[in-house]
Amino acid sequence: MTPVLSKHWADPEGWTLAAYRRQGGYQALPKALRMQPDEVIATVKDSGLRGRGGAGFPTGMKWGFIPQGPGPDGAPVKPHYLVVNADESEPGTCKDIPLMLATPHTLIEGVIIAAYAIRASHAFIYVRGEVVNVLRRLQAAVGQAYAAGYLGTNIQGSGFDLEIVVHAGAGAYICGEETALLDSLEGRRGQPRLRPPFPAVAGLYACPTVVNNVESIASVPSIIANGVEWFRSFGTEKSPGFTLYSLSGHVTRPGQYEAPLGITLRELLTYAGGVRKGHTLKFWTPGGSSTPIFTDEHLDVALDYEGVSAAGSMLGTKALQIFDDTTCVVRAVLRWTEFYAHESCGKCTPCREGTYWLVQLLQRLENGQGHETDLDKLADIADNINGKSFCALGDGAASPIFSSLKYFRDEYAEHIRLGACPFDPARSTFWA
Ligand code: NAI
Ligand code: SF4
Repeated sequence: MTPVLSKHWADPEGWTLAAYRRQGGYQALPKALRMQPDEVIATVKDSGLRGRGGAGFPTGMKWGFIPQGPGPDGAPVKPHYLVVNADESEPGTCKDIPLMLATPHTLIEGVIIAAYAIRASHAFIYVRGEVVNVLRRLQAAVGQAYAAGYLGTNIQGSGFDLEIVVHAGAGAYICGEETALLDSLEGRRGQPRLRPPFPAVAGLYACPTVVNNVESIASVPSIIANGVEWFRSFGTEKSPGFTLYSLSGHVTRPGQYEAPLGITLRELLTYAGGVRKGHTLKFWTPGGSSTPIFTDEHLDVALDYEGVSAAGSMLGTKALQIFDDTTCVVRAVLRWTEFYAHESCGKCTPCREGTYWLVQLLQRLENGQGHETDLDKLADIADNINGKSFCALGDGAASPIFSSLKYFRDEYAEHIRLGACPFDPARSTFWA
């Protein structure tokens, strides 16, 4: 294991400024402020840090998109913004919330460095509305940072000014989609915008905006402090560094495990005490419910962007949801699909109507009232959502349908043959 981000999570006082400083915090900031902003961007580019929110887009490259200097006609450049996506909501994903609770100053120091690099004087942290304790802790930590002169005007005598606003969302999954988040932040109903233009060109208040995930930004201080070579000594060439994997479900010790990119589930399970006693692994998600499921055949897949893609899924948020042999795959997929149908923002027809019909079919199948033709219908509806929806939520909803049919078509058929769920407690010994 590689505790960098999670090194001090066990310290109950670790969230305070005093503890963060004791642990070596706020030492990367003066170093960054002595560099030119472009040098900071170049360092993050060279480190190979990739976005930890799910898509894995190179962080330094994203920062480099922000236009600097006067416009082509000499017009003054528009203000630009840094927005931290702290709206963690992907089912199974639970890494940013513990990070913000345990060591919020890691994020704040990262925000200051990132804002300096892109020359933004305003940054926003958009947090899930439901996690009031995280909101309060972040607000308290931001207050401490202001009081200590890490925020406000002329930070550390550098001439750089920065204001941070911590903003609470209202509990909509879609507001984790970056453009819906920006709409919500502007005070509108959160619905995705057409991309391009990407936020780097026209984001918050139509100005160039970097939107980064919490873990991505929190990784920046350690890169500045320790250097590119150090960061690249972890992980793989194309997926360098360490990251937080969230293990949940049927494991002995669920939780967050920090490890280099490229580790396998087999190795992670040794840290997490294995699948719960007396049971075997049936299926799992590599990166939350929006990523195609894997089975026990995939225990040795390298959990980095390339390895997971080559095996037919996506690394996503690195949320490993583990399901053992007691789980009905149809029921699990139904639960996820109900979530997508509920969270669909309704803007586009394939997702709004398609997720509704997927739920109807899955309910019928799980209740043992399905027909032979339902499996092709499921695949057909998922096909009409996938790649034809306005944002990634639609593709995410289609993923578990395709992958469960690929690996467990027989289990769907068994529901139709039996006229009941084979995992029904009344029928199965698994639940004894
Ligand atoms: P994306 O690949 O379209 O974009 C990734 C990032 O790169 C965005 O910030 C985008 O603005 C930027 N980008 C991409 N191409 C660009 C270009 N040509 N110019 C400028 N910027 C560019 O992925 P998207 O739709 O933003 O995110 C999907 C991912 O989100 C999924 O892989 C999923 O794993 C993850 N996700 C995470 C959740 C969470 O709770 N953390 C919830 C749901 C999904
Ligand atoms: Fe809204 Fe779903 Fe369309 Fe995304 S795919 S815009 S969530 S209806």
